Order: sequence, then C-alpha cells, then structure tokens
Amino acid sequence: MKTPVKLNVNRQSHELFIPENKTLLEVLREDLGLMGTKHGCELGECGACTVLINGEPHLACLTMPLEVEGKEILTVEGMGTLSKPHPLQTAFVEMGAIQCGYCTSGMLLTSKALLDQKPLPSRAEIKDALSGNICRCTGFRKIYDAVELAAKRMCDQASADRAPTLKGGTSNE
Ligand code: FES
Ligand code: FES
Repeated sequence: MKTPVKLNVNRQSHELFIPENKTLLEVLREDLGLMGTKHGCELGECGACTVLINGEPHLACLTMPLEVEGKEILTVEGMGTLSKPHPLQTAFVEMGAIQCGYCTSGMLLTSKALLDQKPLPSRAEIKDALSGNICRCTGFRKIYDAVELAAKRMCDQASADRAPTLKGGTSNE
C-alpha cells in the first residue's frame, strides 16, 4: 500500500507517494536520486547510510519516511557544492581520508554533526563520535586527521570573521 509523505531534504520540499514499508534510505536513493547516501548493511551496523535529521546523525536504513515528516533532512549532497565544498569535504580530500569512498558520506555527516556541536573536539571525542561509522579501507587515522584539520580551519575562519566586528566596535568608541 502506498502513502503520501512530504519530506524536506537539503532545504527542498518533496511530496511523494511511496510504499509504506520503504525506508528513508530507499526513498532518498530510488525516489529522489540522492545516491550519496550509501546502501551498506541495512542492519544499523555500518553507518554508511548516515544522514542528519534536525542536525543529528540518523541511520537512514532504520528510519521510516513518515517518522521524519516536517524535519530537516541533510544528505551529503546538501553539505557543499563542487565550487564551494564544506571544509570537511576539502580536508578529507587533502588528507587522503577516502579510498573506495563507500563510508565517506556517513563519515562526513557524522563529523559535521560533531563540529556543529563541538567546534574543536579532542581526538578521543572524534573517535567516539565516529565509532558507529565503519571504514574498511583507510585505517581511520587519516579520517580523524581530516576532521581535526577541518575543525581547526573552521575555528580560524570563525575568528577571522569576528575580527572586523571587533575592530569596528573599537573605531566607534
Ligand atoms: S546501511 Fe544503514 S547502518 Fe549500514
Ligand atoms: S574508504 Fe572504503 S570503506 Fe571507507
């Protein structure tokens, strides 16, 4: 049996009519063509299907679309663009934190949720946050390095963005 569902994905609203037993992972890939969300174990064990729902990491293979109506869903396609990638995407490329790439979108989104909550996490906090995301290629070290690099760059950029405001405040005195 099919049911109507309205999903907000990557800041766009979609009205769909889908089988009730289809998971969010299947809807993202098969109905919306968002193939960046990877189809791994389908058992909640690998993290390859991770998306953000209202900013929190969720496993799309264990999520039903009706549960997330009215919520903000972010997939890797919504993180950045080719001309303006997210700093995490840039750092993953620069640090060689990608080999086959199957785990990468889940790693990126889980890392984004971490940095949004905690801009400069410790190595232990990064490891803990990514403990549900499995990579069978990289050995993890380069992934942790990439998250640290992105975190530092984002904090440096935030400080630089605040600097003119501080100067402006001084000059108005
Ligand atoms: S495909 Fe969802 S956790 Fe593996
Ligand atoms: S890069 Fe291949 S599984 Fe992580």
